[in-house]
Amino acid sequence: PFIVDACRFAENAWFIKQREPGQGERSIKSIVRDMFELADGMTMSAKKDAFANIGGWLAVNDDDLAQKARTRLIQTEGFPTYGGLAGRDLDAIAQGLSEIIDEDYLRYRVRTNEYIVEKLDHMGIPVVRPAGGHAVFVDARAWLSHIEPLKYPGQAVAVALYEVGGIRACEIGTVMFGRAPDGSETPAAMDLVRLAMPRRVYTQSHADYIVEVFEEVQRMKDDLTGFEIIDEPPMMRHFTAKFAPLSG
Ligand SMILES: Cc1ncc(COP(=O)(O)O)c(C=O)c1O
Repeated sequence: PFIVDACRFAENAWFIKQREPGQGERSIKSIVRDMFELADGMTMSAKKDAFANIGGWLAVNDDDLAQKARTRLIQTEGFPTYGGLAGRDLDAIAQGLSEIIDEDYLRYRVRTNEYIVEKLDHMGIPVVRPAGGHAVFVDARAWLSHIEPLKYPGQAVAVALYEVGGIRACEIGTVMFGRAPDGSETPAAMDLVRLAMPRRVYTQSHADYIVEVFEEVQRMKDDLTGFEIIDEPPMMRHFTAKFAPLSG
């Protein structure tokens, strides 16, 4: 079966409307309907394009498969009626799903990312273009080219953004993907830093603040050093690893 990870379905529909020939006059709702008609099911993290602060679901259009999933759920979590999402959260999700396809909201959200990307690009900071829907991605390997990938340039950028401006970003690179199951470590394909943007939280002045923090990090970037990992779990180390800065 073809199962869609639908967590950013509205942003994706917005990009289809903006970028694909012949889609520009269509409503987001009709594009969303077309997308899901092609699928046999979906997983959804309602914290993303449902505006909720918790929850999600698995939906399939095959009753036998749904029954198997419910049986598995009993083994792993509990019977579907044991609780799960509170009524308040279900209401929030239902409301969120109708509000998320508002085109003014989607335009504002994507435009905010574009604005930050344009400003960073203008400063000579390497960014992934075109701007995405949920985040701004900085190419830390290119920006901090004096820090080799195995000294985690993405982590260095994430730490600098936090120390300088309290901005919480996330390395998506060698820390996340560099460790192989056999224990060896090699550079990931890229060392990016993701600035994921909460929905309906930030204003223009927050975007300008982010840009100002980057200006300050840009001034000190040649003095930034790499990091070493001093403690890491056997799997998915990026969530809980501990780091120490390397000198010089
Ligand atoms: C594309 C994508 N799918 C699924 C998830 C998982 O969502 P959750 O944390 O609600 O399980 C995330 C983020 O966490 C995501 O970015």
